[in-house]
Amino acid sequence: MAKWKNKKVGVLMGGFSREREISLKTGSAVLEALKRSGYNAAGIDCGADLMEVLGAENIDVAFIALHGPYGEDGCIQGVLEWLRIPYTGSGVLASALAMDKAVLNHLGRDLGLHIPKEIVFDCRYETLPAFLKRLHQEFGLAIRQPKSENVGFPVIVKPSREGSSINASIVRELSNLETAMTQALQSDCKVLVQEFISGKEITVAVLNGKALPSIEIVPKSGFYNFQSKYTQGATDYLLPARVSKVCLEKLRDISENVFRAIDCKGVARVDFIVNPVAEEPYFLEINTIPGMTETSLVPKAAAHAGISFEALCETILEGAGLQNSATNI
Ligand SMILES: Nc1ncnc2c1ncn2[C@@H]1O[C@H](COP(=O)(O)OP(=O)(O)OP(=O)(O)O)[C@@H](O)[C@H]1O
Ligand SMILES: [Mg+2]
Repeated sequence: MAKWKNKKVGVLMGGFSREREISLKTGSAVLEALKRSGYNAAGIDCGADLMEVLGAENIDVAFIALHGPYGEDGCIQGVLEWLRIPYTGSGVLASALAMDKAVLNHLGRDLGLHIPKEIVFDCRYETLPAFLKRLHQEFGLAIRQPKSENVGFPVIVKPSREGSSINASIVRELSNLETAMTQALQSDCKVLVQEFISGKEITVAVLNGKALPSIEIVPKSGFYNFQSKYTQGATDYLLPARVSKVCLEKLRDISENVFRAIDCKGVARVDFIVNPVAEEPYFLEINTIPGMTETSLVPKAAAHAGISFEALCETILEGAGLQNSATNI
């Protein structure tokens, strides 16, 4: 059922976030795929004049291809709700929850997920010098959470609301913590100092509530940073991931449960590290607007399941709606 075939589709891309360039790539790839499938689609570069542009373009439905703050965090979703323009993917709540790792991890623990131990720095409540001094004085080399949560080195320092590993870094000793914190604070006033989990990095795409085959990510540099994510040949991708069947089933169940628990729609991608001995999946995050260039992770997983890039984009588009609309009754 092609509800949007004879309607005007706006592919929203660009935006204000640090992932703007990635979004332009996602948007162009989606736009071309939709055109190949016969949709009347146009690209919209989202800037400060978005409201005027949306008014002028008179679109019937929006395919959101924005990444990071303002596009993936509920802001644009709220604008489209207000304008009553149906849009792809998750609504305001799921988008906002998924974007904020510190908040999501609180919920994740209640859902029984394994989440790396972490300390959240929030610059609204403490200054950075005070935070660092507290860690030095009270805890010495081992960083400790007041409620007996020990976080030992190495740690990963990452902004709570950011993507593409931007301003995230691995820290192996206390003396390097300040530089990493200062860098992460460029993205967000909330920063996670999180236990570094050694193991296999695995990602699971979920499409309309159902998990696609898992992908094991093997960055040649050893850290899946911005460079490893977007440089051709810098990372190997293995499908399905090289873990036991039991572990694959666990990854699938957790991914589908999180997708549903926070009310995601359309496509999302759940990132994990699986430790080698116990094969325990540690939950890192869920992305509600994952990269969608033809070589991105979600299209790779879809292709492995026999879903072409065009069919993937079409499925996501056809699921567009407003957040309270009943599509399945
Ligand atoms: N606790 C951890 N232990 C080990 N590695 C981690 C941990 N947290 C993050 N990483 C590494 O850092 C990368 C970026 O972390 P994460 O996925 O949480 O943030 P992101 O910037 O939102 O990424 P994305 O590009 O998926 O949006 C991960 O892909 C992983 O390689
Ligand atoms: Mg990630």
